[in-house]
Amino acid sequence: MIARRSVFAGIGAHLPDRVVSNADLAQQVETSDDWIVERTGIRRRHIAAAGEKTSDLGIAAARKALEAAGVDAGEIDMIVVATATPDLTFPATAARIQAALGVTRGFAFDVQAVCSGFIYALTMADNAIVRGQAETALVIGAETFSRILDWSDRTTCVLFGDGAGAMVLKAADAATVGDRGILSTYLRTDGRFHDLLYVDGGPSQTQSVGHLRMQGSAVFRHAVDHISEAMIEAVARAGVKMTDVDWFVPHQANQRILDGVARKLSIPPDRVISTLADHGNTSAASVPIAFDVAVRDGRIKPGHLVLMEAMGGGLTWGAALARI
Ligand code: UT7
Repeated sequence: MIARRSVFAGIGAHLPDRVVSNADLAQQVETSDDWIVERTGIRRRHIAAAGEKTSDLGIAAARKALEAAGVDAGEIDMIVVATATPDLTFPATAARIQAALGVTRGFAFDVQAVCSGFIYALTMADNAIVRGQAETALVIGAETFSRILDWSDRTTCVLFGDGAGAMVLKAADAATVGDRGILSTYLRTDGRFHDLLYVDGGPSQTQSVGHLRMQGSAVFRHAVDHISEAMIEAVARAGVKMTDVDWFVPHQANQRILDGVARKLSIPPDRVISTLADHGNTSAASVPIAFDVAVRDGRIKPGHLVLMEAMGGGLTWGAALARI
């Protein structure tokens, strides 16, 4: 049997038009631009318009990713959407995106791992490609967290925003692509920490959508350790060194977490892609949005080794290493 590898083909992202600044939020809750910037690094976030759904953001990101990859939608035979804010409880948002793109083959499903969702979805797509179940996969992180925020809770509403990012992966013969492609992935969950970050509603427990609840400082304390562990594992599994990595694309939750991880692992800060000032925490969308920015501005180039990582509700965490 030919050994297969999943190779990066293209990336795209989409943010809703409406921008809400820290100053705008300071008119709604007891907060300030200074507090939000100093504690998080966030300056603004994009908020979906009334009627603008997670699938709409995902479709727009997917179209840009397909264009960047030079791939026709008809070639896609797997769509995985990471989201904690699906359009409806079911069917999967991935099915709606599949139909909108005009894809009539293959399979599509959602993955729910909150802010770690993109790393989980990427891992599922990589597994399917390597196993021969898919040839061309679309991996999407798409969220409308504005719909599940308690807009009267200053400890959470200032942190999150809406958006989507999408990546196209293609199957390749490992013997011919050299060291390109997804080289390792690492996933972890520890459900004992369920109550640190959750939504207090859902179909089975409350028959409602609910609002996000977070013990922010407790989550923060887990973040640096778990993210560092995932990065160390992903690098070890690929048999490379942290110093070999060209770019780090982290989940964009808090600049202090990005800085803390970089300090702990002796990573030069200018190797860490940070875009959270412009969109806040977009949960599963944040890794592909940051990735897209760094590809389009020319930082991430073909041949570069890129380490993606995330941590979120569950708690879930993980990392994925790819040579572009
Ligand atoms: O993506 C999923 C993973 N999520 C994360 O990674 C989030 C992790 N957590 C964090 O990023 C940080 O913990 C926060 C940004 C949420 C909070 O920062 P912190 O430095 O941990 O602050 P804190 O929660 O300890 O709160 C410090 C103070 C409190 O006031 P007192 O009790 O000291 O008087 C809060 O009430 O800041 C207050 N505070 C605010 N003040 C102004 C909390 N939110 C705000 C706010 N504006 N928006």
